[in-house]
Amino acid sequence: MTIMHAIELNNVSVRYEFDVVLEDINLTVEEREIVSIVGPNGSGKSTLLKTIMGLKEPFAGTIAVFGMEPEKARRKGSFGYLSQQSNYDSVFPVHAFDVVAMSRYAQCRIVEKLSRKDRSIIETSLARVGMSELAHRSFGSLSGGQKQRVLIARALALEPKILILDEPATGLDVVSQDSFYELLRQLRDEANLTIIMVSHDIGAVSEIVDRLACINRKIHFHGKPSECAPDEMIAKVFGRNIHVVRHDTNCPTCRGE
Ligand SMILES: Nc1ncnc2c1ncn2[C@@H]1O[C@H](COP(=O)(O)OP(=O)(O)OP(=O)(O)O)[C@@H](O)[C@H]1O
Ligand SMILES: [Mg+2]
Repeated sequence: MTIMHAIELNNVSVRYEFDVVLEDINLTVEEREIVSIVGPNGSGKSTLLKTIMGLKEPFAGTIAVFGMEPEKARRKGSFGYLSQQSNYDSVFPVHAFDVVAMSRYAQCRIVEKLSRKDRSIIETSLARVGMSELAHRSFGSLSGGQKQRVLIARALALEPKILILDEPATGLDVVSQDSFYELLRQLRDEANLTIIMVSHDIGAVSEIVDRLACINRKIHFHGKPSECAPDEMIAKVFGRNIHVVRHDTNCPTCRGE
């Protein structure tokens, strides 16, 4: 019997014009796994996410998302996506609720009112990220971390099976990052989500993810964080010797003491 993976890439290569930016990528993600993709700027992380969602077509290899072609999985609403540039115009006068509601409106065929079911999904999504009380605050007045939560709620309102997050923790302080990562684990458990997240902080994500994929055009490591020697990995993927330090809520410097 063959096991159905949530995501399976076999020998996938992707290019823009003549530039090959991903080469011979083999990667599997299991259902309810949290996987982080790490790698330097320009190493192909965002391209990999777009390829998985069927937004960019590989020139070689195959991809299956729950056994389907990526585009079909996308049309079926399998993905909730938070892009790298999700900077909403902060002065655009909408409430947090409306930002989440937009993903439900996108589901409607014609301009129509939100149904009772839509409202309930929006409210549940906001509750899942702990933002119910701020639902009627203007989005622009929220802090960076609160905005990120609302944008995650927007992705959740599509009721996806896979949450794809491109650098969601950028700009969050280390304490907010920790609670954000805790939220992702909670979402995985409560909403049965599979989560793929791009991150630059290999030390921080190693604590929370099931598996790491380190890429720089090719996959240099794919496995449990405990099997990865981060200093060696950084030297290999980034081409520099950098010592990886895990800062956390117990670190006085991080807490500003
Ligand atoms: N639409 C595009 N057209 C042409 N080249 C592109 C396009 N998008 C990305 N690239 C190139 O592909 C390579 C990989 O880009 P990608 O955005 O996937 O990297 P990344 O790992 O996400 O980087 P970062 O950490 O800076 O977000 C880069 O060299 C980039 O310039
Ligand atoms: Mg990117």
